[in-house]
Amino acid sequence: AWHGNYAPCRYDTARFNTIGTVSFDHPDPSIFTVLTSPSDTPGTANCDFVIFPPRWMVAEDTFRPPWFHRNVMSEFMGLIFGEYDAKAGGFAPGGASLHNRMSGHGPDQASWDGATKADLKPHKIENTLAFMFETRMPIRTTQWAEQTPLMQLDYDDCWTGFEKGRVD
Ligand SMILES: [Fe+2]
Repeated sequence: AWHGNYAPCRYDTARFNTIGTVSFDHPDPSIFTVLTSPSDTPGTANCDFVIFPPRWMVAEDTFRPPWFHRNVMSEFMGLIFGEYDAKAGGFAPGGASLHNRMSGHGPDQASWDGATKADLKPHKIENTLAFMFETRMPIRTTQWAEQTPLMQLDYDDCWTGFEKGRVD
């Protein structure tokens, strides 16, 4: 159904032309933006709809998964199927994560270990589809989300294995 000027839209994500580096370094994930609602401040959209579809990874001398970061935008992510390249475990299809603005986050221990030891030959990430809504607004959870037994209360354990000041 629709309201006012809004109309339903169905989009086949398989038609999205994914862009990525063909040299080095990890581009900002805004390259995966499918739809955006820009605000009056560049770089801070009201809402971006972003997907992480199957794609080739060919970057040289680069840590390929999303690195550790904080963002001025709030990030709500979901995994539809497959595996997300920054969460080897603990992010199951149908699951979602929320990192509100300036919340530090990044790859889990297993993903970090794998990426830092990997032979950086061309690699195709296949059989995966994740999405993200990014917004300059803080995202508030519902009472249901805060009370459901489905909530992963030990989520931050995915970073427990990192030792302070560790250099490998
Ligand atoms: Fe992020």
